[in-house]
Amino acid sequence: MAGLLFVPGGDALAQAEPTALIDQHHCMFCHTTNGPFSAPSFHQIAERYRNKRSADVMLENKLRLGGKAHWGDMSMPLSADRGGPISPEDAHTLVQWVLGQ
Ligand code: HEC
Repeated sequence: MAGLLFVPGGDALAQAEPTALIDQHHCMFCHTTNGPFSAPSFHQIAERYRNKRSADVMLENKLRLGGKAHWGDMSMPLSADRGGPISPEDAHTLVQWVLGQ
């Protein structure tokens, strides 16, 4: 499944909503696509990082391994505490989708 979603360099394609991944990792439990909820919306996140070089790499690592909070005091729980570990391919797919919001 992940292999089907991951197309190297195929970011335009990756922006189709990766619904299965989003469900599996409960992203929408805390985020909405547009409108702040308990976490910044994916649209806010996209506005902030869209034009920053290497932001996607930072965000992929953060999704998989965690990192310090950028939006307030509450940081995102580790992937192990959400839906389980996220592969590099899945993190790439998710981040490309978020940045397209
Ligand atoms: C349990 C709640 C929760 C879940 C589930 C969750 N997030 Fe988050 N997320 C947060 C919070 C809180 C923040 C703000 C953290 C911060 O200040 O950096 C955040 C921040 C982010 C950021 C911005 C990180 C940064 O450094 O600015 C991205 C991208 C993101 N989430 C993507 C996702 C994706 C994709 C999923 C599903 C795989 C997901 N989140 C699931 C709570 C959650």
